Amino acid sequence: MSVAIIGGTGLTSLRNLEITHREVVHTPYGEPSGPITHGQLCGRQVMFLARHGYGHTIPPHRVNYRANLWALRHLGVDRLIAVAAVGGIAEEMGPGRLAIPDQIIDYTWGRQHTLFEDDLPHVTHVDFTHPYDRDLRRRLLAGAERAELSVMPAGTYGATQGPRLETAAEIRRLRRDGCDMVGMTGMPEAALARELGISYATCAVCANWAAGLGGEEISMDQIEQVLKGGMEQVRRLLAEMIPSL
Ligand code: HPA
Repeated sequence: MSVAIIGGTGLTSLRNLEITHREVVHTPYGEPSGPITHGQLCGRQVMFLARHGYGHTIPPHRVNYRANLWALRHLGVDRLIAVAAVGGIAEEMGPGRLAIPDQIIDYTWGRQHTLFEDDLPHVTHVDFTHPYDRDLRRRLLAGAERAELSVMPAGTYGATQGPRLETAAEIRRLRRDGCDMVGMTGMPEAALARELGISYATCAVCANWAAGLGGEEISMDQIEQVLKGGMEQVRRLLAEMIPSL
């Protein structure tokens, strides 16, 4: 069985991936964000998919999460590492910091969020008590330690609809709810992985203080600058973690 990485904003390619080929997969749910890239990363066969497309053209609410996850499962993926940019809410989630969240709250709406919809032999409710896979999280944390990176070892990811950023009041609400970070792509990706039986964990990279917490407006330029450094850390973490799989 196979390992895949879904890259988010700031990670549309893996520089140290030795690409062998790209594969176009058509799914019953439409087209994935792009062809699946096959290659070798640190001596291990992995697949890679850029969540927003290789030219970063698909906004979070338009990503075809069902097609992406279905395509990866179709190619034999049973372990998936999602990389995602987030805004920081918890004090220890300042710009540039990494986190391996252990919980999610879903604030998204109107997305195609399940594969269990039509032509069901019976109604299916997957267990989602712990949305992220424990073993993958543990390996990500061990990889971070070996790479000597400072990460927030757990935390709650609040998934918002986007593509606009949040209001200050929305962030105060998320904080009251217990969210440590906010991003736009964590759901339904995590739930679809569970429906397909794919072990899933996220490496979050803080791009900015969430709205109202940094004292200034949030600019895309700033986000991009911070993510450059953040994604370099992610590459180092993956280089330590991937050989352990
Ligand atoms: N909010 C939601 N998603 C994000 C943010 C944010 O502040 N920063 C990066 N992704």
